[in-house]
Amino acid sequence: MRIFRDFETGENAPDDARLAEGSHLHANLAGVGAIVVLASARGGVGKSSITVNLAATLALTGRKVGILDADLNSPSIVAMLGMKPLRRMPAMEGIEPGAGPLGLRIAASNLLPEGEPAPMSFVDFDETPAARGNGGLVELGYSATLRRLLANTRFGMLDFLLIDLAPGLEQVYRIARLVPRASLVVISHPSELSSRAAKEALEFAANSSIAIIGIIENMAGFSCDGCHSVRPLMPQGALATLAREARVPMLERLPFDPRFAESSDRGTFFVREHAETPLAKQLIALAASLDHAGTTIRAERPEQV
Ligand SMILES: Nc1ncnc2c1ncn2[C@@H]1O[C@H](COP(=O)(O)OP(=O)(O)OP(=O)(O)O)[C@@H](O)[C@H]1O
Ligand SMILES: [Mg+2]
Repeated sequence: MRIFRDFETGENAPDDARLAEGSHLHANLAGVGAIVVLASARGGVGKSSITVNLAATLALTGRKVGILDADLNSPSIVAMLGMKPLRRMPAMEGIEPGAGPLGLRIAASNLLPEGEPAPMSFVDFDETPAARGNGGLVELGYSATLRRLLANTRFGMLDFLLIDLAPGLEQVYRIARLVPRASLVVISHPSELSSRAAKEALEFAANSSIAIIGIIENMAGFSCDGCHSVRPLMPQGALATLAREARVPMLERLPFDPRFAESSDRGTFFVREHAETPLAKQLIALAASLDHAGTTIRAERPEQV
């Protein structure tokens, strides 16, 4: 299988080279006002489709927004935006973000350099004897690629950079290390199992540098066309209890609406296509909460780095 490190150089660069790239990363993001990470401990809870609709809503209200699809092995933002995977992103320096609809600036692993074969997989750690001899596991493709995307994509001046993570607690860990000034939104289903995983993500974030904006409950209930009520889809209560006990704001409890998945699949914006639905109205309210949080984050930034 092809793995990303086949196409990278300098993966085993000495620590000082990595540190230099780290400071390059912070300088590169200096023009970005608020960096918001959308995360979940479990997969398929709606991170990417919510990210896309929040980005669109913020852009429609005049905000400059970028999205980093940090799900390197299974990117979905490009398709959800109705963009074609482009092959024009140079791997190393001065990456021009993909031009998405509504002026969105997009970085993703499926926007690749002209002529580069697409990697099949991004690996995390090298467990070869050489690496073990080097004192243990050596970080390879995944974090290094994310770092390069963050350090080299010319996002320019943005009000928001939304980072759509792959599922998993380790993704929160990774992004917290790369972008300590990021703020976190955790997305979860209402179920006990999903809420338990969300709790771990929140606990991790509480022990790291990243600030927690709040929780989004997705697929909280079913809102059918013409229904005037929302029926539960899963056992209710666990996530609301978690939010209360952890003293983390419950930002929204979004209902299930089958047209949301249709819009994602077609690469169109649900919030525009079905603006009158309860789900769209709640997504628009969610974007307003995020915008408010972004204003606070920008105001509290000690310096423009
Ligand atoms: N509230 C909703 N109503 C209907 N469909 C939804 C809702 N939220 C998400 N979906 C659909 O569920 C599917 C999974 O959502 P999405 O890909 O956004 O999740 P994800 O958390 O990014 O998944 P992964 O962890 O695999 O990256 C998509 O088809 C999406 O459109
Ligand atoms: Mg996703």
